[in-house]
Amino acid sequence: MHAQRLVDTAKALVAGDKGLLAMDESTPTCNRRFAGLGIAQTAEVRRAYRDMIVTTPRLGECISGAILYDETIRQLTFADTPFAQALEAAGIVPGIKVDAGAKELAGHCGELVTEGLDGLRERLIEYAAMGARFAKWRAVITIGDGLPSRGCIEANAHALARYAALCQEAGLVPIVEPEVLMDGDHPLGRCGAVTEEVLHTVFDQLHTQEVMLEGMLLKPNMILPGADCADQSNVDDVADATLGCFLRAVPAAVAGIAFLSGGQSSALASTRLSAMNLRFKSRMPWPLAFSFARAIQQPALEIWHGQAANVPAAQQALFHRAECNRAARRGEYDSAADAPRQT
Ligand code: G3H
Repeated sequence: MHAQRLVDTAKALVAGDKGLLAMDESTPTCNRRFAGLGIAQTAEVRRAYRDMIVTTPRLGECISGAILYDETIRQLTFADTPFAQALEAAGIVPGIKVDAGAKELAGHCGELVTEGLDGLRERLIEYAAMGARFAKWRAVITIGDGLPSRGCIEANAHALARYAALCQEAGLVPIVEPEVLMDGDHPLGRCGAVTEEVLHTVFDQLHTQEVMLEGMLLKPNMILPGADCADQSNVDDVADATLGCFLRAVPAAVAGIAFLSGGQSSALASTRLSAMNLRFKSRMPWPLAFSFARAIQQPALEIWHGQAANVPAAQQALFHRAECNRAARRGEYDSAADAPRQT
């Protein structure tokens, strides 16, 4: 195994106050976001959008690594450079989403299991040859009446661990993403209980599959009330619930934690990350970073709107969100100062 390389890459991804940019929306997800804004949904327009992102001036000052989608890693930027090489040139480590999406879990109505293990060993070798140095796999856990089931949690945890072991065999750092969704009207405590059970199961499976924790990153949800819950909890309660859960369930050997944003507004995601870093700085055994997609991209996407003339303004908005999250890593994000630009 490539132990030292894995440890070095994992550490580099969460070093200092930088974080990750997830720009790995699958084609259907990217198209859905484009359609919502009336942007044409073609491979060429998706390429133009991703070109806007990776050519953002000074992006490497805030972003350590960027996660690409299969279509993008095979495309060239407008400067005729493969996207992975363009990221490297900008000082950003290229990564790749390798799961094949969440599908209905047989026998478990309303629950999903992420697929993509078949042929993964060969795909990882191909992605590594294209320049990827880390990978991502997202499992989706739904909270509902009687959900999640043990069957769903165990199937997803097992797949995450099998994926992570294959990544490390190929020399790629696995980002392990068990996302407990925000959908629903459940209170904060229910998200906390479910997330803790999921994390215990995931780390049990990672141990069983002999995954090296020092050479992986965890990409979890924050502990939040359901989006339709009347009590939306204050920032400190979210920070305390989230870090309390992680301190109980995430081994100290894990190289780092990088949150997904999960549909929170850009400003709220930064505010909550900042509060966690401020309140728990001295008590955390791991760096607490970000790996946001929507919370970094959304304002830029709305400004860009598929128009080349909007690229500089969109890049400014993208850089601004990246800088806000860099401040949040230091516990210094000021949402009041950011107010005029909040989305
Ligand atoms: O897998 C999900 C993405 O990497 C994170 O997306 O920050 O919009 O939740 P999000």
